[in-house]
Amino acid sequence: MHHDAIAVIDFGGQYAHLIATKVRRHHVLAEIRQPEDPTEEFKGYKGIIVSGSPALASKGEDSAYNKGIYDLDIPILGLCFGHQEIAQHYGGKVVHGGREWGHADMHLTGDHPMFEGLGPVEQVWMSHFDSVAEIGPEFKELGYTVLGSGKQHRYAAIGSDTLKRYGFQFHAEVDDTPNGDRMIANFVLGVCGCTPSWSMDRYIDEQVQRIREQVGGNSVFLLASGGVDSTVAAKLFANALGPDRLRLLHIDNGLMRKEESRKVVEMFKLLDLEKSLHFVDASEDFLEALHGVVEPEQKRTLIGNTFIEVFEREARRLGIEDHLLGQGTIYPDTIETGGTKRADTIKTHHNRVPIIAEMMARGRVVEPLVELYKVEVRELGEKLGIPSKLIWRHPFPGPGLGVRLLCSEGLEDTAALKELSADVESAASSFGLSTTVLPIKSVGVKADVRSYEHPVLITGKAEWGEILEASGTILKEVAGINRCLLNLVSETPQALKPLAATTTRERLDLLREADAIVMEGLRRYGLYDSIWQCPTVLVPLEIDGKGRELCIIRPVHSERAMTASAARLPEELLQELKSQILALPGISGVAFDLTSKPPGTIEWE
Ligand code: XMP
Repeated sequence: MHHDAIAVIDFGGQYAHLIATKVRRHHVLAEIRQPEDPTEEFKGYKGIIVSGSPALASKGEDSAYNKGIYDLDIPILGLCFGHQEIAQHYGGKVVHGGREWGHADMHLTGDHPMFEGLGPVEQVWMSHFDSVAEIGPEFKELGYTVLGSGKQHRYAAIGSDTLKRYGFQFHAEVDDTPNGDRMIANFVLGVCGCTPSWSMDRYIDEQVQRIREQVGGNSVFLLASGGVDSTVAAKLFANALGPDRLRLLHIDNGLMRKEESRKVVEMFKLLDLEKSLHFVDASEDFLEALHGVVEPEQKRTLIGNTFIEVFEREARRLGIEDHLLGQGTIYPDTIETGGTKRADTIKTHHNRVPIIAEMMARGRVVEPLVELYKVEVRELGEKLGIPSKLIWRHPFPGPGLGVRLLCSEGLEDTAALKELSADVESAASSFGLSTTVLPIKSVGVKADVRSYEHPVLITGKAEWGEILEASGTILKEVAGINRCLLNLVSETPQALKPLAATTTRERLDLLREADAIVMEGLRRYGLYDSIWQCPTVLVPLEIDGKGRELCIIRPVHSERAMTASAARLPEELLQELKSQILALPGISGVAFDLTSKPPGTIEWE
């Protein structure tokens, strides 16, 4: 069957694939294309969307792509980098500067078909270092944002109706642009005139077919963590191949939540898959691999490699070495690992480590969910009849508590911290809150590029809105900071010192207890379902001179994990969590992570 289709040109922006999903949501087929693909291959599309990129348009980076697309009589929409490229191509100017992160209010300059059905001021989501400073003669400004100082930030949206070329500086494709969906529909269904004909049911049929073709007469051995993705993948494999050609392996890696492995085994019984399931306690292997390791990417790689070593050992033990490796990898795992041609590595997901890449090259890996985001995996799971309480469990990362247990050599760069502290104090001076730059680092993502920078701890009493504003101001104005935390203990810490600490069973047990307290608290207050995910993180920072650590609570709202914002918890719950966590031996501080993604990531490593 022929579908009207949109080409999404992937310049390696973190959200390029998300654009395709958002187009498919309007039942229009969207296909990812590369910037160097020949012009000929774009001719059958009804429209083209040019994605964001880690490259800087102002510096001419990644500018040697096929510009023949601009000669086609097909509407083109550019987002972020794409917007800047369109502006430049048609005689405008892009400068390095005017960066914005997170929410901004865009004021429309008038009515326009791209914004049909929307209000005069729209909330949009920004993540950029460069901006458009001038537009070409055939273009007009469709929207601008207003900075904190009241000054206009021009060209948030531009367009030329004669050329049918449009550009948005913001990301219409992320869930944090609330009416982004409508803007994409206006382009795809309105400007491009696509007829909607694509559906998820068709996608399931196509995947079942694809699994059968790829597996042939072989069988699949799937790593089943108990998380949503591997569970949905297990059900899809069982449907495509039958339970006899599917083996599941649940590994207790010692990095699981309290009682988690026992619950996973119960869950597979409920799904009628227990006959396929094997369980192994490999916690010693993982602890040994992580012994003495501090660097986050190294920890991730070691965890991923150990999964494969245990998997291969179990396959030998069961005599099924010829089986293909099944994984429930979803799209963000690939993009954040730098797994598309141009994307920066934000963090290496456990199912994307080099050993697996090598197995993939040999055709030994089957991944039926690799094009989907979590929300689509859940939709698929519901269509496959998996009970909602399993589908709507919070996502839990493959490396588990391993990436929530920060490690440190216990050293600090006093000079650099002093300089950062002065910058932070000056940025936050008007808020009357005290700020402390923490002498450790965590991972974040800014304008599609990985960051590994310091968090700031904010102490003091203020309204929630004001605290968020202080946090937003610090993150926007101070390079070198990628997270802000609210201190839940009232005093400003006096003697913060990083502790030498790595991954040990004792620290993991402590984190497991703190995590169990937080999860139980969310359930008690009926908040579990409305929050996307809530990591609890243990940070080896001594506050009280007694070698006890700092614990962070990080509840977030998100839809696809590519962007997120801090989820506010009721004050009484925060107080209860604080008292319960402080009662644990080994913890002397509790803080709440206020950071959106970008510039933070959901996990800390
Ligand atoms: P970040 O921290 O990048 O995480 O904002 C986005 C989402 O992905 C989860 N995550 C992982 N999931 N393997 C996984 O299966 C991994 O290695 C991994 N790292 C992060 C994270 O929990 C969040 O939902």
